[in-house]
Amino acid sequence: MSTTHDVMADAVVPLRIRLARPYADEAEVDAVRTVLQSGQLTNGPAVAEFERAFAEMHQVDHAIAMANGTVALAAMYLAEGIGPGDEVIVPSLTFISTATSVVHVGARPIFAEVDTETYNLDPADVARRLTPRTKAIVAVHYAGQSADMAELQAIADDAGVVLLEDAAEAHGATYQGRPVGGWGRSAMFSFTPTKNITTGEGAMVTTHDGDLAARFRLLRNHGQSSLYGHDSLGFNWRLSDIQAAIGRVQLDRLGGILATKTANDARIRPALAAIPGVTPPAVRPDRTHTYMLYTLQLEAGRDQVLAALRAEGIEARLYFPPAHRQQVFRADPVRLPVTEDLADRLISIPFHARLAPTELDEVVDAVGRAVAAVR
Ligand SMILES: Cc1ncc(COP(=O)(O)O)c(C=O)c1O
Repeated sequence: MSTTHDVMADAVVPLRIRLARPYADEAEVDAVRTVLQSGQLTNGPAVAEFERAFAEMHQVDHAIAMANGTVALAAMYLAEGIGPGDEVIVPSLTFISTATSVVHVGARPIFAEVDTETYNLDPADVARRLTPRTKAIVAVHYAGQSADMAELQAIADDAGVVLLEDAAEAHGATYQGRPVGGWGRSAMFSFTPTKNITTGEGAMVTTHDGDLAARFRLLRNHGQSSLYGHDSLGFNWRLSDIQAAIGRVQLDRLGGILATKTANDARIRPALAAIPGVTPPAVRPDRTHTYMLYTLQLEAGRDQVLAALRAEGIEARLYFPPAHRQQVFRADPVRLPVTEDLADRLISIPFHARLAPTELDEVVDAVGRAVAAVR
């Protein structure tokens, strides 16, 4: 027979404070209703308007909506002619599809180390991993802060390879005063529900290059250059007008979401920095951080801290288990000591823009207690 104590130990505490809670109110509902009632659910004006507004906000000449970030990355590699026999340098501390999308086009991802403070690609390590087969470097803007684009561009130029941006997490982030998305030859932004803005599923590819933009439009729509005229191999990688209508409303929310997050960072950073063994996110002076993730570096005891937060109903997670250690890449082993060490010590805590100040303070207090308990 269970004692009360056993029952308590077995009980799963419901998650009260979650990692993500997308905004959606009557504005999104109205936008979807308008599209549904228009009868044009795909290839329509809502997609065109979302693309126009996204390009304007990110100061790029072209934005092309896609079904999701993973196929958008594949489109970026295909548009550069990357395929079998080619190598693409990516960080391992990223969502798996930065790397699996390379495999999807038949090329090989080469994993590189990241900076120990920003978790963005380490340019010196990228330079070491170049080979004659390297075709591209993919700069992931980890957690919503730009990678070191000037250094990476210099390396890419020297080597004669292309620099691409995985800006999946970085809508509205700036580097040296200009938005990400316009630094590499092309860039991808994702709209899954954990991102600062969402369409449920969806993505945007951005570029200044008109030829590339045309190629993206062909790739996403069956290579169709005229009605039922298919001159090249394409896919169905379209975003629907229903999703685009949501995205357009969400785009108007982005500035407010980023301002709230900046204010919330200022609120909790001093208290977090005062906890021995906790390092809050590092922000480089020449860029803005959009805090799609709020990642803490712990000295030790990460898994106990995760469990302690979970026991208080606070959702937290490692973003991301390194890609190079995933089963899918076991056949191509590589050691990345810096990434592996970080993966044992990083934790991302709830930081969506709808958290109440009291909830933020509660998370900080819980982190403080959990870290103190493992020291
Ligand atoms: C860094 C990064 N790359 C790629 C992706 C893949 O995007 P999607 O989930 O839209 O396919 C994501 C997020 O999901 C991501 O965070």
